Parts: sequence; structure tokens; C-alpha cells
Amino acid sequence: MANETVIIGQSSEITRAIALAEQVAPTDVSVLLTGESGTGKEVFAKFIHEKSRRAAKPYVPINCGAIPESILESELFGHEKGSFTGATGQRKGYFESADGGTIFLDEIGETPLDVQVKLLRVLETGEFQRVGSSQTERVDVRVIAATNRRLEDEVRDRRFREDLYYRLRTVELRLPPLRERRSDILLLAEKFIRDFEKKHGLKFVGFTTDATEALLRYHFAGNVRELRNIIESLIVLERNEKITPETLSKYLQPIPTDKASVVSPSTLPALYRTEPSLADAAIPPEMMYRALLGLQADVAELKRMLVGLIEKVSSPSLFLPAGDKALPPKPVGSDNLRDILQAFYEKAAGAGQIPSLHELERYAITETLKRHGGNKRKTAEVLGITERTLYRKINEYKLDD
Ligand SMILES: Nc1ncnc2c1ncn2[C@@H]1O[C@H](COP(=O)(O)OP(=O)(O)OP(=O)(O)O)[C@@H](O)[C@H]1O
Ligand SMILES: [Mg+2]
Repeated sequence: MANETVIIGQSSEITRAIALAEQVAPTDVSVLLTGESGTGKEVFAKFIHEKSRRAAKPYVPINCGAIPESILESELFGHEKGSFTGATGQRKGYFESADGGTIFLDEIGETPLDVQVKLLRVLETGEFQRVGSSQTERVDVRVIAATNRRLEDEVRDRRFREDLYYRLRTVELRLPPLRERRSDILLLAEKFIRDFEKKHGLKFVGFTTDATEALLRYHFAGNVRELRNIIESLIVLERNEKITPETLSKYLQPIPTDKASVVSPSTLPALYRTEPSLADAAIPPEMMYRALLGLQADVAELKRMLVGLIEKVSSPSLFLPAGDKALPPKPVGSDNLRDILQAFYEKAAGAGQIPSLHELERYAITETLKRHGGNKRKTAEVLGITERTLYRKINEYKLDD
């Protein structure tokens, strides 16, 4: 088969996952792929489809997190003409397009509860209704779902239906992070070197022994995706010499120690995160107050950032050099987005090209993703936007991989 999916790895962890994938592939059972960002969930979904009896039928991957909630149901199940403003004709949904084949519901944890009910029904009976129709349709679709959230936490917090969760995880395939299977690092690196040499028509000299060891020790918060990005950067930018640990270190991220200043579940006291019985309790006023203060700080920070940029547009000479004491203090834990954007702005303006807001946004997202090894949840947290907005913007700017 052309472009057959190959899963690289020889560690016992990945070999076990491949064996399980091969075992379930020929059946129609639903599979839930879990694991951190960049561990290969999408690769496994495609692999399972290709090894199934549905291989010659459609494989329809959908990122539930990237589709606006308001149109997700009609995207999945289709709609009738006039069923909502803008529905100018009848439209088939992804489930119908996938009939006979496999649907891959990526970021399933981002699906709103009302759509979850309909997913459960189609999973159990193969039946659904188009939006605006009372007629029941039937499809024969195998469902593979993926998430980098802990769905059991989502169930506990009532954001994910328990029945759907159990239905989806008939078989759960947990993909191990790269740092738990270090024996795969060099194999993967070699594959990516070959791929990118070919793609860019370049030759790569290689790594010194010390650099290889540094690569083997690295934490890879962004997993295989981060390794792939590192290799591509090295091939494009550093191909002429053997890569030393010094050169390599320019492309590795320090272990993140900062905490984003935005209030998120991970910044709340553990008590409020882990006690199920407290999940439903009213949030105490002091917590609300702290959350508001956090938000206020973020808004102030954004305002400062924008004012700085506007000042620069109207009068470049007024802009103070970085490090000047008159500048607002560096924000704690905001990843210095302001500095990142300022540097970008100065470079572009220096070249006589004032960047547009879109370019600044695109840059802020690319840079923050890079700094967090492609981890979308962390990036969204740092940028103070929801994961859904981030997915939408990644799509919009075509930033994925
Ligand atoms: N075992 C593997 N062999 C070869 N390539 C891999 C493997 N695992 C991951 N990759 C590559 O790493 C990158 C990230 O993988 P993938 O998109 O499947 O991750 P993911 O788990 O879906 O991440 P996210 O949660 O961020 O969507 C892709 O370019 C993929 O091709
Ligand atoms: Mg994915």
C-alpha cells in the first residue's frame, strides 16, 4: 500500500502497544488512544485502520477540538436544508462519509455533552439523525478516539459522560511518553534524519558522542513530535558540522519550572483538584477572588504588551531598549511573551516591515508551542486561551507539524 503507516520503535513499551493495536485492528471494537501530546496517537489510529478489514474503505480523521462547538453536531452527523441559519443545502456528515470505514475522533475530550449523547447512540446502534431531521440513518463505522486529557478526571468533573467513556475504552491503548522508552530515541532520530534529508535535499553530518548522549538524556516534553522538530531544525540550520552538545542545546528546551500565571486546574490547591467530593462544592469566595486577581494581572499584562506595540508603531524612537528599568517587570511565569513578541516586532520593523496583528499572533503561538515541545494544553494555558481556540488557530495558521 502506498504511504503505509510505519510505527518506529523497538522498546518493550512500544512493541507491546503495536502488538495490541495489531490484535484489535481486525475487529470492530472501539479503541481509545491515550497519551501525552506527540506520542503518536494519530499514527496508531491510521495504523489500526490500515490493518483492519476496512482498510480499503474511508478513513476519516476529525479533530473534535478544532471544530467550533456550535457546528460540531452538524459536521459529524450532517444536516437538512434550512435546519439552521446558513444551512443552505442538505449536507452529509463525517459519519456518513466514513460508512464502511473508520472514523478517528481526535481530542474527544473536547466534545460538548450534548454531542456526546449522540456519539454514544451511534456507537451503540449505528444510528443517528441529521440536524433538522427526524429520520433515523444507519451507518457501519468503526470508531477510534484519542485524547491527551485524563478522561477519568473529565468524567469525575461531569464534563464527560461516564457511559460514553466506558463504551469508548473497550480497548484502551496508552502510548508511552518518549522519556519512558529511551531506547527508541536514536531509531526515531535516524528515521527523521532520512526523511528530512530527502525532503530538503540536504545531507546531515551527524552527532558527536556527547551530543548523542545529551539527546538520550533529554526530557522530550513534546515527545516524538519534539524529536522530529529538533531533527528538522538541525538538518536545515546546522547540517555542515557534527552536532556538538553546545549546538544541540540551542534546540532543546530547559525543563519548564515556571507556572503560568493564569488560574487553571493545575494551579489550584491540590485539595480542589483531587477530592471528587469537592468537585461539586461551591467555590469559596477567596478562591474566586484569587482567580479574578490572576485574570486581572493577565489583562494588565496584555494591555501593557499592546500599548508597547502601539507606541512602537506610532513612534519607534520612544520604545525603550529591552532591560531598561522603566519597562514593566518581567511577568512571572508568562513565558515572557512580551519579550518574545517585542524581539519579533523589532526584527521585522528593523527590516522595514511592521508585522500585522495576525503575524504577531501566529508568531506568539508558534514560539510558545516550540517552547513547550508542541504541548497544546500548556501552550493554551501560557497564552491564556482555551485549547479549542488554540486548535482553531493552529488550523487557521496551518501550524500542525
Ligand atoms: N512511533 C512512531 N514512529 C514514527 N513516527 C512517529 C511515531 N510516533 C509519532 N511519530 C511522529 O510524531 C509526530 C507526532 O505524532 P502524532 O501526531 O501521532 O501525536 P499525537 O499523540 O496525536 O499528538 P497530539 O496529542 O499533540 O495530537 C508525527 O509527525 C508522527 O508522524
Ligand atoms: Mg494528534
